[in-house]
Amino acid sequence: MQAHLMEWLNLGVRWIHMIVGIAWIGASFYFVWLENNLDRRNPKEGLAGELWAIHGGGIYHLTKFKLAPPQMPEHLHWFKWEAYTTWLSGVALLCVVFYANPALYLLPPGSTLSPAVAVAFGLGSLAVAWAAYEILCDSALGERPALLGLVLFGLIVAAAYGFSQVFSGRGAYLHVGAIMGTIMVGNVFRVIMPAQRALVAAIAEGRTPDPALPAKGLLRSRHNNYFTLPVLFIMISNHFPSTYGSAYNWLILAAIAAIAVLVRHYFNTRHNSQRFAWALPVGALAMVSLAYVTGPAPLATSASLQYQPLPETALGGQRFDDRPATQPATPEPAAKTATPPATAAATPAAQPGTGFDRVHGVIQERCAVCHSAHPTSSLFSSAPAGILFDTPEQIQQLAPRIQAQAVSSQIMPLGNITQMTPEERKLLGDWIAAGANIRE
Ligand code: HEC
Repeated sequence: MQAHLMEWLNLGVRWIHMIVGIAWIGASFYFVWLENNLDRRNPKEGLAGELWAIHGGGIYHLTKFKLAPPQMPEHLHWFKWEAYTTWLSGVALLCVVFYANPALYLLPPGSTLSPAVAVAFGLGSLAVAWAAYEILCDSALGERPALLGLVLFGLIVAAAYGFSQVFSGRGAYLHVGAIMGTIMVGNVFRVIMPAQRALVAAIAEGRTPDPALPAKGLLRSRHNNYFTLPVLFIMISNHFPSTYGSAYNWLILAAIAAIAVLVRHYFNTRHNSQRFAWALPVGALAMVSLAYVTGPAPLATSASLQYQPLPETALGGQRFDDRPATQPATPEPAAKTATPPATAAATPAAQPGTGFDRVHGVIQERCAVCHSAHPTSSLFSSAPAGILFDTPEQIQQLAPRIQAQAVSSQIMPLGNITQMTPEERKLLGDWIAAGANIRE
């Protein structure tokens, strides 16, 4: 029941996060587009430019004032709640997914960090990153936007590396996204909104607005603009185990972020010049190269996580499924009940049997507690991601995805909570390489 409630809580919060996130990023893209497409030829008195557009069956005429209209309108629309609610729902989602189940999602298998410390580290990193960013922007570096951008990029990559040493791959990626999101919302809250309020107040009181504030606001919105595409990738990154599941996940993230910034730069500048027209083909080529270098073959020979034996601490003690505590977690033949679970001799991989029998045993033992029409795990009330390993045919059909999740990477079992051994991963890999036959 609790698992079911958590799933719906996850659904609700994630859905809200997506809706408000689209509203925020959508508005932000729209205004950047508007700014870039304003017709600035012969503007009317007091105007910066105008734009005609058709959408949804209506024709719109928009004008931008150089500074302000002669009279402030009664209703001026502000855009801020899109940003605030995106951050609030994002933090809620971080709690529902990662912090509610640190052993499953946040920590890598075998981590000795306590869940409370891990959560504190995650939340603390958001605050530290935001403070560091504010200090940098307000320092002399703030006067040199290009250098500042480069420094920020380097620091974010360093954060990605740091997180990858402490958290699981997905935990690391999501925390990089969370610090970027926090910085973006912090910019809206602490700089952009106050600058706009000061502008409106000055106009209302007939004063000349202080030009320093809008300039600061512009730098921060520019950062937000370049952050959007990397953050959007991180939001969907959980679907791509060859990125976060790699031993070099932080480097892959850095490469994708660099490509995203390049592509964003092209779209920011294309209205004025085609100087960056090369950015799109180069970005596409870089993505293809990334796909190549992250492929299973090069990784298998590199110092990747493959078949890395787990430290003893990961194997001891922690029980996962809901069988009574008196039984060993590993169902074993009656004659072997005294063998402690997860020692090599007790693992299904080491048990006798023909090829698929042993594979079947491993999957039953390590995966089917969650991936079944009726999971025995209390954490899930239905099969996660709809992946079922109840019948040999289902296992065979899913062989490529088993390869991706449990052989090429060690993403599954989540947090290696069912204590899968390196030998068992190899057994699955060998079986898949030999054609994933279930008849012998
Ligand atoms: C603790 C419960 C749990 C165990 C045990 C577990 N999984 Fe998963 N699995 C999940 C969850 C949750 C998801 C949903 C997607 C996600 O969060 O990554 C998932 C998703 C998957 C997917 C789909 C991912 C995709 O996007 O293609 C595959 C394939 C998979 N698991 C395979 C396995 C294999 C193989 C094993 C055993 C070696 C295993 N899982 C063990 C919880 C588990």
